[in-house]
Formats: sequence, structure tokens, C-alpha cells
Amino acid sequence: MAMARARGTGPVVPAEQGRTQFDLDESQIPRAWYNIKADLPVPQPPALHPRTLQPLTDDFLQPLFPPGLLEHENTSERYVEIPEPIRDVYRLWRPTPLRRAVRLERLLDTPAHIYYKYEGASPAGSHKLNAAVPQAFFNKQAGTKALVTGTGAGQWGTAMAMACGFFDLPLEVFMVRVSHAQKPYRRIAMEHFGAQVHASPTTLTGAGRAVLARSPGHPGSLGLTLSETLETVRASGGAKKYAAGSGLAHVLMHQTVIGQEALLQMEMAGEYPDFVIACAGGGSNFGGFAFPFLHRNLTGAAQAKIIAVEPASCPTMTRGTYAFDWADVAGDAPVVKMHTLGHSFVPAEIHAGGLRYHGMAASVSALVEHGDVEARAVQQLETFAAAVQWSKAEGIIPAPESAHAIRVAIDEALKCKETGQKKVIAFNLSGHGHFDMAAFNAYHRGELRDDDYPAEKVRDALASLPHPPDDQP
Ligand SMILES: Cc1ncc(COP(=O)(O)O)c(C=O)c1O
Repeated sequence: MAMARARGTGPVVPAEQGRTQFDLDESQIPRAWYNIKADLPVPQPPALHPRTLQPLTDDFLQPLFPPGLLEHENTSERYVEIPEPIRDVYRLWRPTPLRRAVRLERLLDTPAHIYYKYEGASPAGSHKLNAAVPQAFFNKQAGTKALVTGTGAGQWGTAMAMACGFFDLPLEVFMVRVSHAQKPYRRIAMEHFGAQVHASPTTLTGAGRAVLARSPGHPGSLGLTLSETLETVRASGGAKKYAAGSGLAHVLMHQTVIGQEALLQMEMAGEYPDFVIACAGGGSNFGGFAFPFLHRNLTGAAQAKIIAVEPASCPTMTRGTYAFDWADVAGDAPVVKMHTLGHSFVPAEIHAGGLRYHGMAASVSALVEHGDVEARAVQQLETFAAAVQWSKAEGIIPAPESAHAIRVAIDEALKCKETGQKKVIAFNLSGHGHFDMAAFNAYHRGELRDDDYPAEKVRDALASLPHPPDDQP
């Protein structure tokens, strides 16, 4: 989609001339986060208490979060100012680059223009640091003594460990056991910044012990790290609080610096995307990149096709049910209306550990359900093939999670080759894969496989969904 006029900095060099870099300066780091709640076309049902199944009240959330974050979780203001001390830390890596992948375009022989925002440029290696820094800041400000969190592949844990390092806060991390084994350097990186890391399930919590008693070789899951985290926070008598890596409204909002910068950078490129693509685990990467574009869709300013990509082995949005479910395994976390595979569902041990979550952020689910966002599922092998093709053209080794977005970007570019249409594709390259070399090693040796849709496991897990009294089918 060509743009009539650009508002960003610098002269517009038409994309035809092959310009590939669209850099902002640090004065253009956003001054406010964007809150999709202000523009949601459908009401988002309130989260419920895990036991009573009544709407959640602040006395449930207050022990978990400091006032600043609670306010962000609850607000419906469209824009929320970013405190200067946070912008100051953002300056370590923001604004991140937006590039046009001309070498990939040539390799694919496509008339499409492919742009990518590169969040792997953050010192933590992914988008996760955008949300980790505000959480460390508001907790420090409120006098929190220590933070506890859960992590899948370790990208969130690394970012949170780094952010806690910036604000001098101790951090305890429950890391999904299979990723703990697959990615030892992620654990070491977290420890480097002073965090204490446990392979979950652990024997430290009742939730972990219960799972180990049933299944001693349990690989762990993001839902279980959340159960172990919440139990640890509640047992601390108020000393510790919970840092959420994804899913919650404030986490998605804090990530919207990505899409806001990307909007400006697309203006510099003189084009507007026909496709906006990002992978989704709990939804914060997708929301961070796509929501500012979606704001333009929802307000009639533009029309891009917005695509959230997930693994076929954990197909929350494409095969899950839109229903109330617990956000964690043990049933201690809020009950949220979302796309879910069932809170007891244990995804296959795929290498995109950050996408192995049974649920999805409530806002993303509502938008998928309402038809504002299209969800797509891709298989592991085609995703790794796209990652390798990408690396050979553009030089970056992507995180396996990010490679899901690359797969769909390439698919759309190849469709353009067939039809001759010159579409503009923008996707978020959410992280680099430098700690994922064991996964690439397995791929190159032919040891990775695709996992089928786990129909039986999903059916079993969905049998134990909660039934809130007021839930209308
Ligand atoms: C590199 C990368 N991209 C994307 C994701 C998915 O992020 P989200 O859970 O915010 O959807 C993750 C999650 O760990 C990740 O590590």
C-alpha cells in the first residue's frame, strides 16, 4: 500500500530506490504506551477469581503487583505516559531498527516488499525487555523486596534478570524444565545478572510436587511456572511480588513501543503494510507490534491484514475454544475468557519454548474472535526452514519463536510471486536465536519433527474448564 505523505523524520526515499534502513533517533522513542482497551470493538469480559469465579477485585491482585502496575492493568485510557526513568533505560537499545529485507525479496523473486522490525537488537536479545524494565521500575518505586517470575525459553527470564539488575532487585525464576535442559546458556545469562533459576516443576512448591508425583518426567509448561511463581509470592508474606512475562493487559501495553516506532518508520519508507505479522505465545509480542496498527484499522485510518502466528502443536487460537479458563495449571491464577487448549494441556516439547502456552491474552483472543485479527498455525519444520532461508538472505539467526512470523511473511511474499501483486509485508523479528543453537543443530541433523494436532490431549484438557455462573455461551 503506497503512502501519500510521510510524517516521520528524514526525507522520503521511495522504497523503489532500494533504501533498506529506516532509523529513528532517540528523541523519537515513544512518550506514551498505547492501550488497546480504549479501542476494543467488543467488551472484554472481566477476569474472575480462581476459586469463587466472581469478578476479580483488587484485594486479589494487590499482593501480586505494585500500585503503578495495577493502575496500568485496570486503566482504559488510550495513552499512558512512560516515566522518564524508563525512557532513559529504553535508550540503551531503542529505537530499534526497521529494515527492508531486499535480499530476501530477491531470493524469493517476489514483487512484495518485506519489512521487519528487529527487537533482537535489545541487550536481552528480544522484545521482552520492553516490559521487564517498567515492571522492575514500578516494583522498586513501591519498595518491593524481590520479584518472582516464570519463563519458557528463557527470553523473558533473561530480560527480567537484566531489568532487575538495572534497578537492584533480587529475582527468582521458574524456568520450564525442557527449556532449562535445551538452553543452558539462558540459565547462565540469568544467573549472570544475579537471578536464581529453578527448573520447573520443582519440589519447592505444592504445585510442582503434585505434578512430579503424577508424572516424574514432566517437561514443564508455562502454565505450571505460573502456579509455582504465584505460590512462592503468596508464601513470602508480602516481601515478594510477581513479574508477568506476557498475557496481562499491562504487559501487552508496555510492548506497544515496538509498533508505535514501526508506524513512524513505515512512514519514512513511504509505504504502509498490507500485512502486519507477529508470533504469539501469550500475546505480548503480537500486541506490542500489531496493536498500534490495529488502532488505525479500528479507527478507520487504514486497513492492514493483521496476522498472529502460533505453532501447530500448540494451536491455541486456531484450534482452541474461546472460553473461561485458568491462566495457570494449578487453578491459582485468575480465570480469563480467552482461547484455550485447557489449563492442564501440556504442549509438545518444541523448540519455540516461548510459544508453549495453553492460553492467549484476553484482548488478543477477543480480537481474533471478533475477526479483527487472523490467526495462523505453522509446523516446526517449515518454520525452521524459513529461519534458515532468512539467515542466508539477511544474516540474522532468528529465535525459533520469531521464525513463525518469518514463515508467514515468506508465505505471503510467495503468494505475491504467483499473483504478481506488490503487497507490503511488515513483521516483527522478536528476538535473535543465539541461545537456540542446539535447536538449529537438531534441525540441521534431521532430528526435529512436526507434531500433529494433539486432538485427544486437547479434548481431555478442555473437559475440565471452569463454569462461571454468568457465562453466556
Ligand atoms: C523471541 C520470542 N518471540 C516471541 C515470544 C512470544 O512472546 P509472547 O508470549 O509475548 O507472545 C517469545 C516468548 O518467550 C520469545 O522469546
